[in-house]
Amino acid sequence: MCGIVGYIGKKNVKDVLLTGLKALEYRGYDSAGIALRNDDEIQIIKNTGRIKKLEQKINQTKLIKATSGIAHTRWATHGEANITNAHPHQVGKITLVHNGIIENMEELKTKLLNKGYEFKTETDTEVVAALIDSYLDNDIIDALYKAVDDIVGSYALGIISEDDKEHLYALRKDSPLLLGIGQEENFFASDLTALTDYTNKFIFLEEGEIAKLSQNKIELIGANHTQIAPEIKEINIEESEKGKQGYEHFMLKEIMEEPVVLEKTIKPYLNNLDLLPDLSTYKQIHIVACGSAMYAGLIGKYLIEKYAGIPCTAEVASEYRYKNNIYDRKTLVILVSQSGETADTIAAMREAKKQGITTMAIVNVKTSTIAREVDIPLFIEAGPEIAVATTKAYLLQVALFSLIAFKLAKNNLENPDKILKDFEKIPRIVKEILDKRENYKEIANQIYQNENAFFIGRQMDFAICEEGSLKLKEVSYIHCEAKEAGELKHGTISLINKGMPVFGIITDENLRDKTLANIKEVESRGAKTFIITTDKLKTSDKDITVPNTSAFTVVLEIVPILQLIAYETAKLRGCDIDKPKNLAKSVTVE
Ligand code: F6R
Repeated sequence: MCGIVGYIGKKNVKDVLLTGLKALEYRGYDSAGIALRNDDEIQIIKNTGRIKKLEQKINQTKLIKATSGIAHTRWATHGEANITNAHPHQVGKITLVHNGIIENMEELKTKLLNKGYEFKTETDTEVVAALIDSYLDNDIIDALYKAVDDIVGSYALGIISEDDKEHLYALRKDSPLLLGIGQEENFFASDLTALTDYTNKFIFLEEGEIAKLSQNKIELIGANHTQIAPEIKEINIEESEKGKQGYEHFMLKEIMEEPVVLEKTIKPYLNNLDLLPDLSTYKQIHIVACGSAMYAGLIGKYLIEKYAGIPCTAEVASEYRYKNNIYDRKTLVILVSQSGETADTIAAMREAKKQGITTMAIVNVKTSTIAREVDIPLFIEAGPEIAVATTKAYLLQVALFSLIAFKLAKNNLENPDKILKDFEKIPRIVKEILDKRENYKEIANQIYQNENAFFIGRQMDFAICEEGSLKLKEVSYIHCEAKEAGELKHGTISLINKGMPVFGIITDENLRDKTLANIKEVESRGAKTFIITTDKLKTSDKDITVPNTSAFTVVLEIVPILQLIAYETAKLRGCDIDKPKNLAKSVTVE
């Protein structure tokens, strides 16, 4: 969600900025822009739509010979996605790009209007630029500190100060920003994917620090102008993790990587379950996350409650953070996040910590805010996930919940060794399932012209339905709903029409016949049904079946099928699969 890149050095500034912006495209955006600077001028070029359109406009413009620059992809919050509202914004001597939301924008704007500032855009960012400019005396650092003292909200800022030709400035609060160190060049960016072509040395900017970048040096300045020694981290991204590696889309590449990343994530724990934290001392668990990560948590909830007997809730972070949560000393809060930067999930984590509650996180990005602040980080090994719709990271989150529940329940299970063997086999089984891609294309062919679809199941199967439905709707724009199969009759069934696709998920032997009865009910009202189940629970030869493994592992077999159906359907509908409209990869604002 919004992407920032900054560069100061001898390379072609425009090229570095555009390369960075292209790498950040996956975060989601609707307009983009760059500001180039040299000793004499600052040149701003902006456009709506994709980076390609910005690049075309840049190529048609006579550019200054720049020595530094800042760039931005904007996901509109204040004001529509047009050229005027696109970043960078320039007020007085300040030019800046911003990621985040300024909550007291109206109040600040009124004060600045009274001081004589005029505003050309509807954005909160222009207000920040004016605010900093209003405090600009001699010292930009003082002006920045004064400005951020006034701001309520979240921000990552990349700044050019007209009077300081040798430097760029960057700072952040509740929005990610990191610094990249090169040879006679330095960078900042929203995440490291923007910079991996140039450097493997990074500094993770902390809140309250201002970064001052020149060509040869990065200084971190704390309150009262104190110098802070930077902690430099070396991070190498493997070549195999970069680019699409021959796949048509990142989403497909990332689904196809699932067997490998599954093995990498679960193997250490299968060799030694003690590597997983011991959660048996907790009396209740709150799982908190957003979107797919929450649906992974929902599966965790069913498994933990059913097999370990610990009361467990799974809730959406944007709701959880504002409600009265009932904790006791034996409550554990588990956050789930691929990016580790989701604003609502971070806020829920901080709130729980403030209450003295132990927090644990299942997270992918090891350098993220959640990974750094949580009490107990537990990592999935998904590698970079670029497609906006999560696939491999979601599967691995589920895998870790399955292992956590298994560890908690192990001593009470009838045949734990057999379940352990299922875990060992699962990467291979997932590979075999993915190899049947043609079968899922066939299903996509049968549904892609529909505008509505349903997913039904009970208990854990319902949790799987939630993710199946989200995946299909977000990439194909088919309106989908997941429903507890037994709940359909209480209203929703009135929406079932002739030819409407309904996916029924059945993995639980005890609930097989119940869900099947609900599937028959929609079938008799004309629905086109698809049953996804195990060999053992198969209801007819038409079913899509997966090998029968334990309740802890079977979900890991069903999910890739739903992901591929969503992918193939979106492809047939000609959708922008890796960057669905209106979506952002990392939702860094509320
Ligand atoms: C859907 C999807 C989102 C994310 C959600 C949380 O495909 O990707 O629903 O799961 O925005 O993001 P993270 O996991 O980064 O906290």
